[in-house]
Amino acid sequence: MAVITDLMKVHKVIDELFFEHQRALLHFDFEKALRILIAYESTLLNHMADEESILLPVYEERADFPAAGSPKLFYDDHAKMRSYIELFKQKTSEMPAESELDRVLLQLLDREAFYLRLCSHHDRREADFLYPMLDGLLSDKEKHEMLDRVRLRGGKH
Ligand SMILES: [Fe+2]
Ligand SMILES: [Fe+2]
Repeated sequence: MAVITDLMKVHKVIDELFFEHQRALLHFDFEKALRILIAYESTLLNHMADEESILLPVYEERADFPAAGSPKLFYDDHAKMRSYIELFKQKTSEMPAESELDRVLLQLLDREAFYLRLCSHHDRREADFLYPMLDGLLSDKEKHEMLDRVRLRGGKH
C-alpha cells in the first residue's frame, strides 16, 4: 500500500545535513560549512518543490483543512526558509574575512537556531495536516500516482 507520509522521511535527512553544516561552523571549517549548506539547500529546495508542485495543489483543492493547516502557511514558511538560507550562505561565505570572528559566528548560530525552530514548527504542521490528510483522502491508486510523480521529478536533478 502506498503511503504519502513516507515522503516525510526526507525531513530527517535534511535536518542531519543542517547539523553537519553547524558542526563544521563550530570547528571553524567555513569552506566545509558552506559546501554542506549548499547540499542542504539543494535537497530542501527539491523537497519544497515536490510539496509545492505535486502535494499542495491537491491538498488545497480536496482537503478539508482547518485554519492551522491552511496552504498559505506552508507556502509562506517555504518562502521564509528560502530567504534564510540565502542569508546563511552569504554569512558563511563571508566568515573567513571577518575580524570579529567569534561574535559574528555566535550571531549566525543564533539566527540559525531561530530558523531551526521555524523549520520544526513547519514540519510539525505538515505531519499534523498535509501528509496525513492526503493519505486519508487519496485512493491507493492516486497515492501511487503521486509518489511516481515525486520520483520522476526527483530524477531530473
Ligand atoms: Fe514544507
Ligand atoms: Fe516537508
